[in-house]
Amino acid sequence: MTYAVTAVSGQLGREIARGLISQLGDETVIGLARTPSKVTDLGVEVRPGDYDKPEQLQTSLAGVDALVIVSGMAPPEDRIQQHRNVIDAARTAGVKKLVYTSILGPEVGTRFSPVVQSNRQTEADIKNSGLNWAIGRNGIYIEPDIEYLESYKARGEIANSAGGGKCGYTTRPELAHAYAALLTRDELNGGTYDLNGTPITQDQLAGYLNRAFDTHLTYREMTPEAFVADRTAELGDFIGPIIGGIYQGIRQGVYDRRGAYAEVTGRPHQSWDDFFSTLRA
Ligand SMILES: NC(=O)c1ccc[n+]([C@@H]2O[C@H](COP(=O)([O-])OP(=O)(O)OC[C@H]3O[C@@H](n4cnc5c(N)ncnc54)[C@H](OP(=O)(O)O)[C@@H]3O)[C@@H](O)[C@H]2O)c1
Repeated sequence: MTYAVTAVSGQLGREIARGLISQLGDETVIGLARTPSKVTDLGVEVRPGDYDKPEQLQTSLAGVDALVIVSGMAPPEDRIQQHRNVIDAARTAGVKKLVYTSILGPEVGTRFSPVVQSNRQTEADIKNSGLNWAIGRNGIYIEPDIEYLESYKARGEIANSAGGGKCGYTTRPELAHAYAALLTRDELNGGTYDLNGTPITQDQLAGYLNRAFDTHLTYREMTPEAFVADRTAELGDFIGPIIGGIYQGIRQGVYDRRGAYAEVTGRPHQSWDDFFSTLRA
């Protein structure tokens, strides 16, 4: 069997490839990247894999048996076609199984919903591909909250529109572990699995950050409209509303899910006590 992962120049793709290499060795794993020159540290063959280049994708997928498609970053309307390019190229190249990194989220009613809908369309395209498939729906990465620590400290608070809603966060390493299982365990074929840890509130998140980093952050609830305006001012017209929509989804309870992590991997998702203790150490 030859396994491949797309977008290995990105953080999730690289982490998935690393997990597969440590599990299966470097002979059976291939990376695809839009920018292969960025990938210098994997120690496996990296082939060109631009989602906008169908012929290049088809050539690069020759000899691949099972493929992880990491969802792209383009606007939703472009993303659907990009993912179709990968699915079609895989089918033509003779790939037998597709695994897709989809997302949990509010399917209607928020500024994030068009992105979620585009992920649902790709899920449908994968199910209709005629190939074997497995789909993971990722929780929200918790790492950006660590990267934002200095900004939280400067404000003295975490302020957003999540309110009392609980969010099933996850980490990229935990996702990588789950995607290795989805790719290699054929008994998981034909399933769509929520991949998230124990859901926590923003108050709890502030508590974890305070214990790990000796900070004194508090949580302040904002209205969805005020938070979209706040994020748009800092991050611009594309990403700002998307972030606002994610927190509106948390507020609505969309991310308060038990998840299927243990079903996929055979062990529970890392606990937040453990994750933050490791950061403190
Ligand atoms: N669950 C969450 O909280 C969350 C948050 C943010 C994003 N996401 C989704 O998860 C995906 C992976 O996250 P990440 O942390 O790995 O993001 P990341 O580090 O920003 O990496 C994004 C990757 O997408 C690749 N890419 C973009 N356009 C492409 C194209 N046309 N063809 C091929 N590759 C392309 C990039 O390639 P280059 O190196 O060439 O730019 C890069 O490898 C994202 O793409 C997004 O769909 C999830």
